[in-house]
Amino acid sequence: MCGIIGYAGHRPAATVILEGLKRLEYRGYDSAGMALIQNKELNLLRAKGKIRELEDKIAQCDPYHATSGIGHTRWATHGLPSEENAHPHPDYEQKLALVHNGIIENHSLLKRDLREQGYSFRSDTDSEVLSHLIGLELEHCWDIPRAMSAALQKVEGSYALALVSLNGEGQVWATRHSSPLILGLGQGENFVASDIPAFLPYTREVIFLEDNEIVQVSSSKYRVLDAWSLKDLDKEKVHISWDVQSAQKSGYRHFMLKEIMEQPRVIQDCMSGRVDLASGQTVLPELDHLPLPRRLHVVACGTSYHAGLWARNLFQEWAGIPAEIEIASEFRYNPRIIQDGDLVLAISQSGETADTLAGLRQAKQQGQQVLGLCNVLGSSIAREADGVVYTQAGPEISVASTKAMCSQMTALLLLALHWGRKGGKLGDSDCRDLLQGLNELPELLDAELPGMREKAQKLARKYSWSRSCFFLARGTYFPLALEGALKLKEISYIHAEGYTAGEMKHGPIALVDPEFPTFALAPDNGLRNKLLANLQEVRTRGGPVICLTPPGLEQDANDVWEIPSCPEPMNGFLFLTALQLFAYEMAVYLGKDVDQPRNLAKSVTVE
Ligand code: M6R
Repeated sequence: MCGIIGYAGHRPAATVILEGLKRLEYRGYDSAGMALIQNKELNLLRAKGKIRELEDKIAQCDPYHATSGIGHTRWATHGLPSEENAHPHPDYEQKLALVHNGIIENHSLLKRDLREQGYSFRSDTDSEVLSHLIGLELEHCWDIPRAMSAALQKVEGSYALALVSLNGEGQVWATRHSSPLILGLGQGENFVASDIPAFLPYTREVIFLEDNEIVQVSSSKYRVLDAWSLKDLDKEKVHISWDVQSAQKSGYRHFMLKEIMEQPRVIQDCMSGRVDLASGQTVLPELDHLPLPRRLHVVACGTSYHAGLWARNLFQEWAGIPAEIEIASEFRYNPRIIQDGDLVLAISQSGETADTLAGLRQAKQQGQQVLGLCNVLGSSIAREADGVVYTQAGPEISVASTKAMCSQMTALLLLALHWGRKGGKLGDSDCRDLLQGLNELPELLDAELPGMREKAQKLARKYSWSRSCFFLARGTYFPLALEGALKLKEISYIHAEGYTAGEMKHGPIALVDPEFPTFALAPDNGLRNKLLANLQEVRTRGGPVICLTPPGLEQDANDVWEIPSCPEPMNGFLFLTALQLFAYEMAVYLGKDVDQPRNLAKSVTVE
């Protein structure tokens, strides 16, 4: 989704904003722009395409004396990607300019009213109404927060916006409603941004802004006001422990590869402080105030949904807690019968996904307790849930989620174990053994990563001609098959579907032919022979089969990819990593934009 950065300080704003935009590139975008106030003039620089196009424009006009400004990367929702539709958008008289992330749902109505008052529009965006509305209010009062407040009362939808005005050189104003915005507090400089990496090289002191708060920053001061009463608010500062290094590629060609390679450490970090191996105890004080759930309703999207699906069996088997997993965009419009004692678990790496957040809000409105499982500290889901378990994976930059799922699986496993023990379903020695198995996993995975990558490379080359393929699995491996398919399609644009192997003969097998490969997840368990029989059905129809399997077992496949034996469910992490690497190597081989795949955004903050 769009990225916003605002800066007020002592450095050349154009440089700080440009660098900040580059660090927000991972969110996905199709045009970029910035607005600077220099020598009492509003400078607007916008370009379609990548940030380097914007850089070229900046190089031609020397805007380096401005020490405040705003910048934006746009992910088109209303209006094609073009220079006219790129942000910032000025008001009618070009006295202010703003950048916006979100959707103004009543923009047609507002545009009609503004047109009747003589306004015309220079873009096809919904966002432009915001600059005109605020500009209009400023004709009556020269107080920017007051004008923002009055204008925003007319607006329906979601927004994070930042604004500069000729009447306030050296200052930036910003506000949010259902879209993330963070204030960064530096020495003689302050920032607002959609995400922390935008200003991470300059400060790690932040304030998480809530909905309907307006912030005003200059180089030396900041104020946070309630957007409606305009009263000053006291806000808590938070120190972020991420360092710049964790948001950089550190020598890897892509963030995605770096993030896959980090997974052994991610498992350790997620366990850190939460596991007592000697006693088999899990230490999760985040859950102390929540009773043992009677039933779980897991709500999530995309990869986070797959992590929830993977954990369903653990909740049921280890803790005896029935679990329903729902895609958040369905959950929010399809109210469930949720009873007393049930718990809604919202899983989200970013903590900002609009559908998951809406599901959480809907559950809370019905009086349900909600637990969040998030990676991003202080994100909306983390703040609005009744409790939050952080996955502690560090910033995930690549649009394709990898280490976040690994950390979610680790945290979900700990949750299931915790509740299993609390409810008396798992004894001390069961817990000790399981935790021991989890504890040994990072070393095993770390040792396997180079070999897995090599194998992934070879297979990606061999099958790079594929236009479509299946990922088949049975039982608890099915969610991993779904994830393997999602990873492949989102970064290599090869069509892929995850199926339960037994379901294939009920229709999808019609697709199988020598040009339609099948990737099978074949663990050493009670369903292995059933799966092998399904693979036979594929082979009989000429479909090539790649079989991901522990070594030394009987199989019949065109290609065998052996991964080390490891007890269930820990082996799921090995399968997951192999699938991620296969997708990664395929995208690299095909020359795709691995970290910023087309049409996608890192954090989907619109419905
Ligand atoms: O931040 P979230 O975990 O809520 O994001 C959910 C999905 O948008 C996300 O997992 C998406 O599917 C990824 N691009 C998959 O790689």
